[in-house]
Amino acid sequence: MSKASVAVIGSGLMGRGIGLAFAIGGHDVVMVDLDLGLLTKSLEQINSILEVMQEAGLTSESSDRITSRISLEPNSEKAVSNSDFVVEAIFENLDLKRETFRKLDAASKTDTILASNTSSLPITSIASETLHPERVVGTHFWNPPHLMPAVEVVYGEKTNDATVSETVSILRAIGKKPAVVRKDVPGQIGIRILYSMIREATHLVEAGVASPEDVDTIVKEALGTRLEVLGPLELADLSGVDLVSNVAKGLYKTLDDSVEPQKIIKDMVANGQLGIKSGKGFYDWKTGSKNADQVLKRRDAHLIKILKERRKNSE
Ligand SMILES: NC(=O)c1ccc[n+]([C@@H]2O[C@H](COP(=O)([O-])OP(=O)(O)OC[C@H]3O[C@@H](n4cnc5c(N)ncnc54)[C@H](O)[C@@H]3O)[C@@H](O)[C@H]2O)c1
Repeated sequence: MSKASVAVIGSGLMGRGIGLAFAIGGHDVVMVDLDLGLLTKSLEQINSILEVMQEAGLTSESSDRITSRISLEPNSEKAVSNSDFVVEAIFENLDLKRETFRKLDAASKTDTILASNTSSLPITSIASETLHPERVVGTHFWNPPHLMPAVEVVYGEKTNDATVSETVSILRAIGKKPAVVRKDVPGQIGIRILYSMIREATHLVEAGVASPEDVDTIVKEALGTRLEVLGPLELADLSGVDLVSNVAKGLYKTLDDSVEPQKIIKDMVANGQLGIKSGKGFYDWKTGSKNADQVLKRRDAHLIKILKERRKNSE
């Protein structure tokens, strides 16, 4: 699929970045959402993202050329009828996704790949109403999808190898780093590891071992700075598997093993402390030194710097 027709169903936070990533990669992209008003807003947001990417030198073509490959279509069945690759990024609701895939399956060519960007729902269930579940696959992009390199490519129980290998190659060709998830487990790879970390970090705060600031400092300044170069299993090899075994023997039984959100989290939710969206979570986002816009800008600037360095090193 050197130049595929791509359809993105759902043009919200993730869909617009996914569409943009394919358009920058040279593909024609049709963006779908519930109505033209939402689609026009998404296109405006794509234009502002592109402006930042251009300024940073992350795109070689002009914004106009890139956006000329993007079209808007509120009717999903019409949009997918001529598409080779479809990525669904609608709300995280199983019934809605199942029904959407039933429609996409009926409206598309039988060799079109149908991918879901779900973070937590089983691909097998999403594909359950389709006549061709072998061409349904998970493509879990990370936020922001136009900047984050990794995409998890997830097998459902009936997904065939050809679908996964085609998906891996189209993603590689647009500069992504796909990782194959061979079993349809909840949370795939990244979300499982992230939530193991959130569970333990919450436990450390709840047990009074450290403040949120100090927990985050250690994750960012000790673990994070190294993790870009060495994953946890590379680190295990580097430390020595015998050492890992000895540490695990003593430590694992002391780690948090909650099977539901801890009391501190439940209380925060009950009190409306929802994080950035309510102005207070583990941190104060209204009057404290933290500012949501600044944090997001810093995140994007950091990701842009990494991408630029990687490109420079591969030249
Ligand atoms: N937000 C994240 O950080 C993140 C990260 C990875 C994966 N995901 C997954 O990506 C998917 C989308 O998440 P999001 O954060 O972009 O959500 P969002 O709410 O920002 O966007 C969803 C969009 O889908 C549209 N939509 C809903 N039903 C539709 C339909 N039937 N047809 C066409 N469009 C429809 C909505 O109007 C909305 O614009 C979810 O499955 C989510 O779990 C999200």
